[in-house]
Amino acid sequence: MSCCHYYAPTEGGDAAFSVDTNAITFGKGCLAEAGDHAKSLGISRIALFTDRALAAFPHVDNVKVSLLNSGLDVVVYDETRVEPTDQSFKSASQFAVEGKFDGFISVGGGSVIDTCKAANLYSSYPADFLTYVNAPIGEGQQPAGPLKPHIACPTTSGTGSECTGIAVFDLLEMKAKTGIVSRHLRPTQALVDPLCTHTMPKNVIAASAFDVLSHALESYTARPYTQRAVPGTPSARPMSQGANPWSDIGCRESLQILGIYIKRAVNDSNDTEAREQLMWAATLAGIAFGNAGVHVPHGMAYSVAGLIKNFRPDGYPTDEPICPHGMSVIVNAPSVFKHTAAACPDRHLAAAGWLGADTRDAGEEDAAEIISKQIIHLMRTTNMPNGISGVGYSTDDISALTAGAFPQQRLLQNAPCTITEESLAGLFEQAVSYW
Ligand SMILES: [Fe+2]
Repeated sequence: MSCCHYYAPTEGGDAAFSVDTNAITFGKGCLAEAGDHAKSLGISRIALFTDRALAAFPHVDNVKVSLLNSGLDVVVYDETRVEPTDQSFKSASQFAVEGKFDGFISVGGGSVIDTCKAANLYSSYPADFLTYVNAPIGEGQQPAGPLKPHIACPTTSGTGSECTGIAVFDLLEMKAKTGIVSRHLRPTQALVDPLCTHTMPKNVIAASAFDVLSHALESYTARPYTQRAVPGTPSARPMSQGANPWSDIGCRESLQILGIYIKRAVNDSNDTEAREQLMWAATLAGIAFGNAGVHVPHGMAYSVAGLIKNFRPDGYPTDEPICPHGMSVIVNAPSVFKHTAAACPDRHLAAAGWLGADTRDAGEEDAAEIISKQIIHLMRTTNMPNGISGVGYSTDDISALTAGAFPQQRLLQNAPCTITEESLAGLFEQAVSYW
């Protein structure tokens, strides 16, 4: 399906896009290469970031042994938090400052990798915490230059954080999720080892896979880069530059892989082939969304996760209520894509086909229905929550959810159509339940 018209030039719009990515090594057992990569990056004293739960799995040990065998001085930091906060970022940064490291390695999910990015940033270019935090909450300043080398080793097949320059956290005093965004935050090297997926609980595989699905579908349907205003200087071109021909490649491939493997990977824990394929899909979608940016489902997820009341899903820590990131995103997705389909129906229809929908006799007028139905079908067959009511919300919560998500303008403005506060409330309303 041709989508060339999507990038037609516009008055005042950007005429160029950037291809930014880091070095990525992908393959079974590649965590054992950590020491050699660290050495070749000139690191001699390295901080190894992980979390306590992961310490029980062999991945952290594999990396540590590899680093030690290469003669590096290794210090482990395992106090990262699932769903990091400004406080946990500050504690990690303090550790990094005191440790006088010349490099970093993170072994874990998005929370670990993001925490490591922040620790690298604040120890490389110390500043008041809000200096680098996204405006309007923070000052949104860019660091003065490159950070120290960071090798990121994802242990879940979802986040894509190993490929992006984004670190997300909860700002406790404002009860708001926000982040730090900079090209300098992107890890120097990613080591993506699909063996890590073998030990992931079923629900974690599912939530991670739907995060990947939404990364790819949001990036593919994002506002085209030609409709974003030309930047004042080339270096000011944002990382989330909108859909572009480079990000399209990763989105397309990732969605096709998900269409084939998502049900198998979730519903058969012995299907290691399917789980490993999801890791590749996650990497491709990570490259794509790190380059194009995501939009409304992720913007809505900020308040779905942030205002969670009593939801405690299987496979996750039970000490406090939590809405895993992938679930907080996908519960919004059918509602959003049904709405955005009108802006670029051919893209929504193509994506539905890659995800397994029968689109043979479909026209563009069917795109909204087909894409939302296909996502719902995949959610139902993998036991995902039934919309935002499935994670504990009702129509009474819509105004609070809308108020929490509407400030996420960086994401909302990356949608292919204008999202007003009123339309956002309507999207939450349509997301209450799907079946
Ligand atoms: Fe995500």
